[in-house]
Amino acid sequence: MNVLGIDEITLGAGDLPTCRRFFLDWGLNLAEESPTRLVFESLNGCRVIVAHSDTPGLPAGMEPDPTLREVVWGVDSEDGLQHLARKLRAQPGFFEKDGRIGCTDPNGLAVRLQRSRKREIALDCARTNTWGERSRIDQASPAYDRATPIEVGHVVLFTTDLEACSRFYQDLLGFVVSDRYPGRGHFLRCGPRGGHHDLFLLQPPEPRRGLNHVAFAVRDVHEVFGGGMHMSRQGWTTELGPGRHPISSAIFWYVVSPAGALVEYYTDEDELTEAWQPREFTPGPTVFAEWAIKGGIDGHTRRQVNAEPPSGRFMTDKPKP
Ligand SMILES: [Fe+2]
Repeated sequence: MNVLGIDEITLGAGDLPTCRRFFLDWGLNLAEESPTRLVFESLNGCRVIVAHSDTPGLPAGMEPDPTLREVVWGVDSEDGLQHLARKLRAQPGFFEKDGRIGCTDPNGLAVRLQRSRKREIALDCARTNTWGERSRIDQASPAYDRATPIEVGHVVLFTTDLEACSRFYQDLLGFVVSDRYPGRGHFLRCGPRGGHHDLFLLQPPEPRRGLNHVAFAVRDVHEVFGGGMHMSRQGWTTELGPGRHPISSAIFWYVVSPAGALVEYYTDEDELTEAWQPREFTPGPTVFAEWAIKGGIDGHTRRQVNAEPPSGRFMTDKPKP
């Protein structure tokens, strides 16, 4: 296993001031900025770059902007990088420069590899008391006013050739299939051991190439809720969330992004090993989400959007109808 995960993504967009406000609200740190380029960092040093669509040298998108223009995958070692360079040499657009190798995947997306620049970090995360295991003693569970994402955990791409694209990541980069919608979607992880997916390739019935969403890992379920409600308070639109994926088990919250498609807060995804047997599913709304809230939770009332706001100090203050 050489590829560890996503080190950096670049999004192409036309409205950088809105993207700046959005990703600061999302919880990223603005590390560098110029009129045509914003460089954000998550907690472990994973970078999210928003480049103006007109930037010279920006790799072509799979679809018109705003969208994903490039994904940089982190590799474990220099030997690992050289091993991957040999495997990718025959691919379209191959280059090797300044510690990065790159090519174009069968979907038309710019793929780059570098020695991972992400940092190991230790974080306090919520402990959970279950019936059989009490791990939070004399301690209240945390609540978050907003999220500070740890890293980009996965990207989800629409593809017009699922098989070719999936083969590229499996055969050349060593990715492993975690689960499948046969003929429709492959959940891929970077290697045998790791989180459920680093990449999900989706071939919709209406042929389409492009970005579906970029997902950011957060510490725990409470940070998903706190982050989503903060985005709601700042006026951004929730597509769906909170909710839970039956495939991967993750708790999620999707927000509409001015830099293209959706962004997702997620936590508590399945951790897999060599022993995991890929499963097959038929697409459907309840397979996508075991449960979910359309439009999200209002950040002020802390209730479902458009639900009646709370009154009184306790629920029992309400007179009986
Ligand atoms: Fe996701």
